[in-house]
Amino acid sequence: MGQSVVSVVCVLSLIVGTCFASSQVSDRITELPGQPKNVGFAQYSGYVTVNEQAGRALFYWLVETPASRKPESRPLVLWLNGGPGCSSVAYGAAEEIGPFHIRPDGKTLYLNPYAWSSLANLLFLESPAGVGFSYTNTSSDLYTAGDKKTAEDAYTFLVNWFERFPQYKHRDFYIAGESYAGHYVPQLSQIVYQRNKGVQNPIINFKGFLVGNAVTDDYHDYVGTFEYWWTHGLISDSTYRLLRVACDFGSSQHPSLECMKALNVAVLEQGKIDPYSIYTRPCNNTQSLKRELKGHYPWMSRAYDPCTDRYSEVYFNRPEVQKALHANLTRISYPWKTCSDIVGNYWADSPLSMLPIYQELIAAGLRIWVYRLVAGAKYTKD
Ligand SMILES: *[C@@H]1O[C@H](CO)[C@@H](O)[C@H](O)[C@H]1NC(C)=O
Ligand SMILES: *[C@@H]1O[C@H](CO)[C@@H](O)[C@H](O)[C@H]1NC(C)=O
Ligand SMILES: *[C@@H]1O[C@H](CO)[C@@H](O)[C@H](O)[C@H]1NC(C)=O
Repeated sequence: MGQSVVSVVCVLSLIVGTCFASSQVSDRITELPGQPKNVGFAQYSGYVTVNEQAGRALFYWLVETPASRKPESRPLVLWLNGGPGCSSVAYGAAEEIGPFHIRPDGKTLYLNPYAWSSLANLLFLESPAGVGFSYTNTSSDLYTAGDKKTAEDAYTFLVNWFERFPQYKHRDFYIAGESYAGHYVPQLSQIVYQRNKGVQNPIINFKGFLVGNAVTDDYHDYVGTFEYWWTHGLISDSTYRLLRVACDFGSSQHPSLECMKALNVAVLEQGKIDPYSIYTRPCNNTQSLKRELKGHYPWMSRAYDPCTDRYSEVYFNRPEVQKALHANLTRISYPWKTCSDIVGNYWADSPLSMLPIYQELIAAGLRIWVYRLVAGAKYTKD
């Protein structure tokens, strides 16, 4: 895609009254380093500014359904990972439902046969600013992220993104995610629903949402988590009782000191395990890359590979990958990480329960799908 094409689009859109610093054409991904040839689907990625004063911009990656499956007739699904502070590119796209997964060499990609993009156009968003390639020019933003700002910025992102991709205006639109996105998804859904109210033929043609392994209601999430640990022999009877007392009615994002102490005891008792897949070995940093390269190819046996996020930290920090993705154009001062500790640790507001939003949106007739994935089958993280 030459610069001239971009400027032509910009000149044309100037005539119509809009010219964006970044356009759909310049966001088109020609090819990602190490990707299989002739994949038959289009990809776009780039930045959408969500706050000009602060200089906050969110990074997105759109993967369309294969041309043979008529992407223009398929819905658009926004995908969000949780944490808070974790990247949808790291987990959703590169480990879970995206079209490409990363080989242990951290350089080459292989096709994911279970990609959701074979049925829907997938829009991965790294959110909030400070996560992945999404950034802010006001560093204090990193220490003040929370549910409210995340939802408002994501809504602004959507409004601006649809201007860049007008072919998706009025298209059936769903919001999906997992884990702490159990907060993001209903909260963003509520904003979209409320701002669409009374609008005929809304641009964001919101139909419903999907959440997996979702943080939903802190009290019941705690009860379920503790019971799971206890009934799987990961913690003792006494630690189980301690957790139930110390964390009763507490916030999972801001646990009380007593609850934090009890959680530490539980973690120590569990030992070095992979909490996302308790029957398989955890990732062993020092040996994993070497072992995998020796010819043990986990994607062939479809075995769970606990080290995949290590491969993505190598892949997405490659300058040629960032160039192909139109990412990190402003030379962000820290490397790309799967999860931002700062954003996650300083998380501000986190309501105890999403159930009131469910009540509102169920009554509104939206389609809602809440699902759970069981350890040992296909897994999800953060
Ligand atoms: C952030 O600052 C850089 C460097 O000044 C600038 O190029 C970029 O456009 C700014 N980002 C936003 C979203 O304003
Ligand atoms: C990780 O691998 C190294 C080298 O093979 C080994 O010495 C170490 O014990 C392993 N650690 C775990 C937790 O498996
Ligand atoms: C952005 O690029 C700079 C080099 O220009 C690099 O040092 C930094 O790690 C990168 N950050 C991210 C988030 O990709």
